[in-house]
Amino acid sequence: MRIAVANQKGGVGKTTLTFHLIHAWAEDGRKVLAVDMDPQGDLTSSLWRGDLPQNALVARVFDGNEPRPFQVAPGIFLAAAEISLSVHEKDLSLKNYFRLKTWLDAKGGDFDAIVVDCPPSLGLFTINALVATRWVVAPVDVSLYSVRALRDLLGSLEELQEIGEGAKLLGVAPFAFASRQRATKAVQELLADEYGNILFSHVIPSSARVREAIILGRPVWKLRRDEQAVGDSFRKLASQIWERAQKGDEHG
Ligand SMILES: Nc1ncnc2c1ncn2[C@@H]1O[C@H](COP(=O)(O)OP(=O)(O)OP(=O)(O)O)[C@@H](O)[C@H]1O
Ligand SMILES: [Mg+2]
Repeated sequence: MRIAVANQKGGVGKTTLTFHLIHAWAEDGRKVLAVDMDPQGDLTSSLWRGDLPQNALVARVFDGNEPRPFQVAPGIFLAAAEISLSVHEKDLSLKNYFRLKTWLDAKGGDFDAIVVDCPPSLGLFTINALVATRWVVAPVDVSLYSVRALRDLLGSLEELQEIGEGAKLLGVAPFAFASRQRATKAVQELLADEYGNILFSHVIPSSARVREAIILGRPVWKLRRDEQAVGDSFRKLASQIWERAQKGDEHG
């Protein structure tokens, strides 16, 4: 199963969602490859505190080399990113858009799931992720800008599908952390109107503990008991995403 977590709007919860999906699936006994396609390296620093083995950098695909993902936790392997990835962004030759796909086609078979965290743009790295995966999950913070960004993302997916490449939107995952309650309700209705059939039903609530979880490198359900509700919504969302992708994969 290959999933990209994408939305070109910044700060909507991509990395937070990727981090929790990876942990939820690994805890269920699956072998998961986390691919950080963002030169900000946020996913990498949430998963690993030590020095980065240079051969684990996903940037190697752009030099025609293979990254060697390393194990960062039980069941979790990381193809890492750091700021040096950004030097590749300017090379827009056609083959550069297929680098991640080429590597995953050759070496991704060892994993039950591959999850790619994207940067906040529709540039080279996100396109690599969309070409290399089957499914896209788009987190949206519940705001009007996010709804607009989602339309752009869908436009890009359609263009890629026209040339026979590119993932399908598996679903939209609402993060209700950025706006006030009344606005949240209005945008949720808008999202339900436009994406009703693919909107995941588990909204991720706002919680300072989510931020803390990423900083501490532990999923929110492992922080403390009183955060069970937030932890549960991440876990239920992870199950819903898994089941939907599984069903989609089975139906060709
Ligand atoms: N449910 C939540 N409650 C409170 N804060 C949250 C929640 N989810 C994410 N955040 C915080 O919001 C910020 C943005 O989240 P995150 O880094 O996951 O977004 P992103 O889409 O990956 O951002 P970027 O576009 O920069 O890659 C982070 O500081 C994160 O800790
Ligand atoms: Mg991010």
